[in-house]
Amino acid sequence: MAKYPFIKNYEELQAGLAQLDLTIPLSDDLIPAAKPLILDSGLTIPNRFVVQPMEGFDSGPNGEPTELGFRRYERFAEGGAGLIWFEATAVLPEARSNEQQFWLNEKSVNRFAALEEHTKSVARKKYGHEIVSVLQLTHSGRYSKPVRHNRKPVIAQHSAVLDAAHNIPADYPLITDSELDRLQDAYITAAKRAAKCGFDGVDIKSCHGYLLNELLGAFTREGKYGGSFGNRTRFLRETMQRVKNEVPQVFVTSRLNVYDAVKYPYGFGTDKENYQVWDLTEPRQLAAELKTIGVPLLNITVGNPYFNPHFNRPYATPVRGTEPYDENPLYGVVRFVNIVREMQQAFPDLPMFGAGTAWLRNLVPGVAAGILKNNWATLFGMGRSSFAYPDAPNDILTTNVMDIKKVCLACSGCTELMRAEEPTGCVIRDRFFYALP
Ligand SMILES: Cc1cc2nc3c(=O)[nH]c(=O)nc-3n(C[C@H](O)[C@H](O)[C@H](O)COP(=O)(O)O)c2cc1C
Repeated sequence: MAKYPFIKNYEELQAGLAQLDLTIPLSDDLIPAAKPLILDSGLTIPNRFVVQPMEGFDSGPNGEPTELGFRRYERFAEGGAGLIWFEATAVLPEARSNEQQFWLNEKSVNRFAALEEHTKSVARKKYGHEIVSVLQLTHSGRYSKPVRHNRKPVIAQHSAVLDAAHNIPADYPLITDSELDRLQDAYITAAKRAAKCGFDGVDIKSCHGYLLNELLGAFTREGKYGGSFGNRTRFLRETMQRVKNEVPQVFVTSRLNVYDAVKYPYGFGTDKENYQVWDLTEPRQLAAELKTIGVPLLNITVGNPYFNPHFNRPYATPVRGTEPYDENPLYGVVRFVNIVREMQQAFPDLPMFGAGTAWLRNLVPGVAAGILKNNWATLFGMGRSSFAYPDAPNDILTTNVMDIKKVCLACSGCTELMRAEEPTGCVIRDRFFYALP
């Protein structure tokens, strides 16, 4: 029997939380989840469910979405979520984490426009609602692999923790300040293209160990992008301000790591003495500055899937060939939920939300309702479940229940496909399309 078996019902969940001395509010009141949210940008999100970005690694030769990508977003739109956060899309070819990662460029832009419009039209036709669309713009940094099986890391600082974990030699060069200056321009070009495609917002992705997240924790870097808080956050702040000024057709936001769980001086939002403890002082300061820039919402996240996946995506089974981290997944779920709560409560009028609850399977509805009712977050994000069970938002909103036969099993199969550089989806619930090699 698994050391930490799945929890079967809400009574067991309450007991499990009490045993760990943890809290998470539960509710069966779905009125807050069904309530539209009017953003400061003027747009309305028709309900509180968000499809979190989930890479499919199935682009065509120019980085454009293919039929499989269209199918993925069609399923998301049919599932009823009010906000669809389109997956990590590289701003440059060398910024890709996989040769088949989405890449927005002059050759692929029309196909992205068609995808955005198709996704919205599917939701319009089925629900009569207008979804809000955000495109996540990324540079994969340390995890760049622009050519199949060929890593080409781009690093902001040397890390005694992460260099060792990913075999980066001590003399490996850092990205220079002038290269970073030029990279800002690549984000602006991509944001302009995203606006042309019709996306409502762009996410200057700053999470999960990728380049912009690494910069936030680049305490040991010298020059204008490292060291002090102002320098470490400079790239993100300046790029977001430039999008705000130069691309007013879209709103600008970020999927922001507020706790890397990588030991000081190599991680953001981490207690200086103990990396297992978060310290949100700097993330709060950064959120305040992003609010001044004008973000209408923030997608809050934690951890690094290559290094400490149990922080971001508590799982039942680890990726094959890796050691499971000995932690109750319930603890991981509650940690993520509470970090989002701390951020949201510090900024009650700036909508925020998180993810990381897939391991709870069919108990997600009660947790989502409880979080929303108690203002622990303003929206509710779903990642792996969107692959396994894209209809979950509609099922929750209409029946208050998720079908146990359709739920994500947190088996790490989708992550394994990703690591194998194969098109990524659910190997259990969507197995005719996705199978492990
Ligand atoms: C296969 C896979 C692909 C993902 N792709 C992205 C991505 O493109 N951008 C991103 O910010 N997070 C990505 N994530 C992280 C998820 O959005 C989410 O944070 C994580 O799965 C935990 O939430 P969950 O428990 O709802 O699945 C991905 C996760 C998986 C497993």
